[in-house]
Order: sequence, then C-alpha cells, then structure tokens
Amino acid sequence: MNEVMETILARRSVRHFTDQPISDDILAQIMDAALHAPSGQGRKTWRFTVVTNKEMIKKMEKAIEADYPYKGYTLKDPAVLIIPTNLRDNPFGIEDNSIAIMNIMIAAQSFGIGSVWINQIKGRSDLPHIREVLTEMGVPEDHIAYGTCVLGYPDPEYPAGEYKEKGDVVYIK
Ligand SMILES: Cc1cc2nc3c(=O)[nH]c(=O)nc-3n(C[C@H](O)[C@H](O)[C@H](O)COP(=O)(O)O)c2cc1C
Repeated sequence: MNEVMETILARRSVRHFTDQPISDDILAQIMDAALHAPSGQGRKTWRFTVVTNKEMIKKMEKAIEADYPYKGYTLKDPAVLIIPTNLRDNPFGIEDNSIAIMNIMIAAQSFGIGSVWINQIKGRSDLPHIREVLTEMGVPEDHIAYGTCVLGYPDPEYPAGEYKEKGDVVYIK
C-alpha cells in the first residue's frame, strides 16, 4: 500500500486532543492542501479562517452553545478551529467547502494530527450571536459556513474504535 492510501485509511475522527500546539509550518502546509482542493467551475471563492487563539475558539463555542439544545456543547478544546466559508450565492459552496475540509483532514492525518468535522454552524451563520463572532474574525457578510473542522494531536487515551459500518461499493463490470 502506498503512503497516501495508508494515510487515508488511517484517518478517523478525533474528539480528544492533547495540549500540543501545531507548528505554523505544518499548519501552513495543511491549509495549502485546502487551497489545492477542486472547486465547482474553479471559482475558489472560499475563505479559510484558521483560529488558534483560544479565546476566539471559546467565543465561537459559547455562541454555538447559546441556542444549542444540549448543555455543555464543546468544540473539543482543539489546537486549531478552521472555519471554511464561501460566498452565499456560490451554488457549489457546500461541495467546495466540504472537499476542502477533506483535504485538510487527510493532510492533517499525514502529520499525525487528528481532526473532526463540526457541523453545528451549518445553516446558522446568520444567527446574530454567531454572525457577531464571524464578523470579529473578519468573515464577510456575504460568506456563510457549511461546517467547520477542528484539529489537534490525538489524545492516546481515546483511540478510535473499529468501524461498525463502512457502507457499500458495488462494481458493475
Ligand atoms: C457532514 C458531517 C458532519 C459531521 N458532524 C459532526 C459533528 O458535528 N460532531 C462530531 O463530533 N462529528 C461530526 N462528524 C464526524 C462523523 O461523526 C464521523 O465522520 C463518522 O462518525 C465516521 O467516523 P470516522 O470519521 O472516524 O470515519 C461529521 C461528519 C460529517 C461528514
């Protein structure tokens, strides 16, 4: 098996991180992978807000929690919160942002860094308390988020379990 295949097959969602920060150099390489993802009609109108400032991460967590039905909502105390946004009138926004997140996750995995998709911002970018934090992060009004992604070094005390279900592949020859 080649290294790319090993990396893809080794990736699992990680929800417990150590305190180890991610170096600027590695983070820049991971974000370069995002910028190399395909995009509908090559529009590349995405914008990646990469937050390492713990206060800002907490602020977003609080904003998400404000009207979330379960108490104690957490962004998992990650080293990095990445908020990909796209022009709200880009018809490929959700696909473009999603495929960029996948590149981020695979690139992170290649450095031994864990990741998980965090969905709770989807459809809620324009809620005033969430928009306020997005605006503070410099996200333009005409951009919305479809999902976010957090990164960090995996806490070895929480290894990923085996897959119960992987879905189907059907070959028609
Ligand atoms: C669209 C999407 C939304 C997701 N939302 C969340 C989420 O909000 N919180 C979370 O902990 N995991 C979330 N996940 C991660 C999935 O739960 C995870 O990918 C799935 O259980 C399979 O596990 P694996 O990533 O280890 O293969 C999301 C994944 C996708 C693709």
